[in-house]
Amino acid sequence: MAIFFTLMLIIAVIFFFPFQAVFSAVDTIEPFKSFGDGTTLISNGGIFEFGFFSRGNSKNRYVGIWYKKIGSQTVVWVANRCNPIADNFGSLTINSTGNLVLLSQNKSVVWSTSSSKQIKKPIVL
Ligand SMILES: *[C@@H]1O[C@H](CO)[C@@H](O)[C@H](O)[C@H]1NC(C)=O
Ligand SMILES: *[C@@H]1O[C@H](CO)[C@@H](O)[C@H](O)[C@H]1NC(C)=O
Repeated sequence: MAIFFTLMLIIAVIFFFPFQAVFSAVDTIEPFKSFGDGTTLISNGGIFEFGFFSRGNSKNRYVGIWYKKIGSQTVVWVANRCNPIADNFGSLTINSTGNLVLLSQNKSVVWSTSSSKQIKKPIVL
């Protein structure tokens, strides 16, 4: 149950916390637009950063949220912990049923949210 609530909180943060983009002009993920590796979103207070990252010397790419202000990257949540992407060609998108979907270069689904309710105007702020 605790894990479930943590996950719901993280998803709520992703969907409702006002994130601002850096490194690119993307400031929202709109349906069918993808969000590529190399772009990150920073929450308005500059506390959290969301995007693709690697750990240590590994080239594996993960999608997650980390504390931006702490010197050494402190990851608070990882989407694809068990299923890293081996290259820099992953992308995030929101599909037509409003799920956040992480795709590898060949467009296979690496990870996704699974909201059963259709979101009317899905958008990640
Ligand atoms: C896509 O790539 C992944 C590994 O990156 C592989 O496991 C999967 O089989 C590939 N899918 C297709 C359709 O090529
Ligand atoms: C959107 O992604 C979810 C999760 O992967 C999947 O269950 C759903 O079928 C997808 N919707 C479409 C229209 O592809």
